[in-house]
Amino acid sequence: MAESATEMTQMVLPHHANVHGTLLGGTVMHWVDLAAAVVANRHSRRPVVTAAFDEMAFLAPVMVGQIAILRARLTLADRSSMEIRVDVDSEDVLTGERRRTGTAFVTFVALDPVTRRPTPVPRLLLETDGERAEHAQALERRRQRLERRKAHAKS
Ligand SMILES: CC(C)(COP(=O)(O)OP(=O)(O)OC[C@H]1O[C@@H](n2cnc3c(N)ncnc32)[C@H](O)[C@@H]1OP(=O)(O)O)[C@@H](O)C(=O)NCCC(=O)NCCS
Repeated sequence: MAESATEMTQMVLPHHANVHGTLLGGTVMHWVDLAAAVVANRHSRRPVVTAAFDEMAFLAPVMVGQIAILRARLTLADRSSMEIRVDVDSEDVLTGERRRTGTAFVTFVALDPVTRRPTPVPRLLLETDGERAEHAQALERRRQRLERRKAHAKS
């Protein structure tokens, strides 16, 4: 799990901001997608695509001039799909104070480089009780996600 994990650090500049002078939600989601893609690529060593983005709550704003820190790690590897958890923190450059501003769960699917069809990914090795507990929660999220997928397909 640790080998594929990534940390991405971004200085928040004025061109990342919304009209309130804080980091634009869409930009956060773009960065979350990229951080999760790095994890999915590292784990599968295959081309990957984003299949689903779970609900993302924005708990606190990130101000222009602060640093945004995105930590992404694999929480579930199924046949061809992978769930990646991405935590987004802000860091004040003057005080060093850090704050959780959001968490997202993103599903990526690995593709065969030739056929571009979903292809199997390596198993996720669970080493600690914490990892096993997180994996159990990820299985439940996957169940709910696939139910939503089925419901969307019907409507
Ligand atoms: C994701 C995609 C490859 C799945 O293809 P598909 O023909 O539906 O394939 P399958 O039904 O066999 O699903 C493949 C895997 O994706 C998972 N999956 C597909 N849609 C999903 C969704 N909405 N939520 C969660 N998982 C999903 C399936 O559960 C399956 O997982 P598993 O192999 O681990 O059991 C296809 O829907 C696609 O190409 N979507 C567009 C991706 C894209 O353009 N993303 C944005 C740019 S990167």
